[in-house]
Amino acid sequence: MKAIVIYKSLSGFTRKYAQWISQELKSDLTDVKNLDSNFFEKYDTIIFGGSLHASGITGLKNITDRMDKLEGKNIVVFAVGASPSGKKIASEIINKNFNAQQQNRIEFFYLRGGFNFQKLDLVHKIVMTLFKWKLLLSKNKTPEIRGMLESYKKPADFTKKENISELVNYVKSLNKG
Ligand SMILES: Cc1cc2nc3c(=O)[nH]c(=O)nc-3n(C[C@H](O)[C@H](O)[C@H](O)COP(=O)(O)O)c2cc1C
Repeated sequence: MKAIVIYKSLSGFTRKYAQWISQELKSDLTDVKNLDSNFFEKYDTIIFGGSLHASGITGLKNITDRMDKLEGKNIVVFAVGASPSGKKIASEIINKNFNAQQQNRIEFFYLRGGFNFQKLDLVHKIVMTLFKWKLLLSKNKTPEIRGMLESYKKPADFTKKENISELVNYVKSLNKG
């Protein structure tokens, strides 16, 4: 099996997971910026990871716009967000990001990242400052909202290497099939 892990990461959380996954699978690893039209030819397993912005997986179009080129290959996508993991968030992300056909073709995993306001570029700092105001104005401040507000003051990092094991085991099982 020849696999590649491709990632799009703004503040480093998705990159960290991508590095762990590629080490574990002994696969190639690249930033999404390096893709060109013939890039996928030499791989039979494509693993793409992108951070979550307003429930959308950043950079996902690099995969979903090329589904014809990926015919016959294994496709795995992971999203990295600040929200806690769980079945509910995973199914929300799947429904928002993949059509029915893509849901059949693509194996999806959600991995919890973190939040580091200081590492964002100016545009995203502005977006997230507006979001912070929305959180501050919310009447019912759930523990999740409080946690998010805290992470603006002090970066939060929920990445754990063990979080990749389900994805890694899935990819390894493809090899045996
Ligand atoms: C503009 C913006 C929107 C975001 N929207 C979400 C979201 O909808 N759900 C979530 O869990 N995290 C959201 N986040 C948090 C990031 O997904 C999280 O910080 C992630 O770990 C970043 O990964 P990265 O460092 O690889 O970019 C958002 C962050 C930004 C900057």
